[in-house]
Amino acid sequence: MAKSRKGIVLAGGSGTRLHPCTSSISKQLLPVFDKPMIYYPLSVLMLGGMREILVISTPRDLPRFKELLGDGSAFGVEFTFAEQANPEGLPQAFTIGEEFLAGSPSCLVLGDNLFYGARLSESVKSAAAAQGGTLFAYHVSDVRAYGVIEMDDAGQVLSLEEKPPHPRSGHAVPGIYFFDERAPKFAAGLKPSKRGETEILELARCYLDEGSLRAEKFGRGTAWLDTGTAESLLDAASFVHAIQSRQGLMIACLEEIAFHQGWLSKDQLAARANSLGKSFYGQYLRRIAE
Ligand code: G1P
Repeated sequence: MAKSRKGIVLAGGSGTRLHPCTSSISKQLLPVFDKPMIYYPLSVLMLGGMREILVISTPRDLPRFKELLGDGSAFGVEFTFAEQANPEGLPQAFTIGEEFLAGSPSCLVLGDNLFYGARLSESVKSAAAAQGGTLFAYHVSDVRAYGVIEMDDAGQVLSLEEKPPHPRSGHAVPGIYFFDERAPKFAAGLKPSKRGETEILELARCYLDEGSLRAEKFGRGTAWLDTGTAESLLDAASFVHAIQSRQGLMIACLEEIAFHQGWLSKDQLAARANSLGKSFYGQYLRRIAE
């Protein structure tokens, strides 16, 4: 039987664009409205059915992530933690994670990427079930700050370029990547780019070159938000607030997702709600449990 896909959240980096907010704490622990930023990428892995999740962060911040997330039992999942001593590029997540993955396919999601949308679960589930590698493509107003993907009408990937000054398309590659069990091996063979780091799109190119890379567009109904600057962080928080207060339903409530997946019982959910005290988040969980 094929091994089940495992998740990796990369929550390293120094968040320099958010200093002084991030001078003493990891960016991915900052709140996006009512919950820590890392909840959002974690929710995507959980919606995709992944229960074994590796959280990678700096030696300074890892203890805080452990304190926040614990062993995962509160969320019906299993967390493993690993240090990234020096940030040497996103593909490093796979070399650090090689032992954790132990030959399983994986999904890497960046700890500061926020996804939300009606068809998101389906997209993530179908990528999780696919062979080879899967990237997503998302139209943004200024694509030059991102990895850029060019596709033909049939969805074939034509080119991949990291932060090109003259982009060949308007589609960025969001920070969620699905690769088969060979990702650690491919990652180990990559050379640093001009910015001194290995590049995730070069890892994707290993799959493109052998014809096993697929790409799917996130349509207009999907939100992909960035949280790298004070302004984008505020936008993301406002977005979450607007949707949640209108619907009365939470975005990225991990315990709720676990409950719907059948990974937490009603009693476990109620116990978790009580441990969160009077917070709005706790009250929300209590309502779901009832
Ligand atoms: C990284 C990737 C880039 C991707 C982006 C998504 O960029 O290298 O391809 O589009 O994440 O957030 P970085 O955050 O390192 O600038």
